[in-house]
Amino acid sequence: MEQAAETVRLFFALWPPSALQAKFAAWARQVAGRGRAMRQENLHLTLAFLGDTDAALLPDLLALAADVRFAPIRLPLDRIGYWKHNRIIWCGAGEEPDALTALVGDLRARLDAAGIRYDPKPFVSHITLVRNAAGLPAAPAWVPLVWEARDFALVSSTRVEGRVTYQVLQRFPVAEG
Ligand code: 2AM
Repeated sequence: MEQAAETVRLFFALWPPSALQAKFAAWARQVAGRGRAMRQENLHLTLAFLGDTDAALLPDLLALAADVRFAPIRLPLDRIGYWKHNRIIWCGAGEEPDALTALVGDLRARLDAAGIRYDPKPFVSHITLVRNAAGLPAAPAWVPLVWEARDFALVSSTRVEGRVTYQVLQRFPVAEG
């Protein structure tokens, strides 16, 4: 009998430093109500969601990501949003920086060229803060801040004792060219 390929659940993301994750998480806990505040260590901004991927493709993924050229991304997190369709509260940039649009474009183009599948939904940059939320909170106000991202990451997602656990497999630093 043929053995099923081993798969890993993967995505590319900008991974905030823990001091920023702590700020996001503190606000999320205050506004969560009956919703579910994301755990601090899980907070991130997804660039491309691959989902269950053949583990044999990992070397290709690491190589293609290492070839991506991008400038530091100055990302103003000045906007809070709520999406009814998936009941999440998120923070993001009112205006997406060109460097971020370019990074996502390059990464997705390289995935396309390699024939590696990812969720093709158009990119809308956001950091999910609360799931299963009823709406936007009245207070406390979000305090805008700026995140200067200098790398992106390949991340795996697993369930450990029922909890979604993310592991940064590899970081790819800014490489202009
Ligand atoms: P979300 O926070 O808006 O739900 C891990 O699941 C990460 O990948 C999350 O940031 C999630 O976004 C994102 N993601 C994008 N497309 C996804 C999909 N089709 N299924 C699950 N997660 C997806």
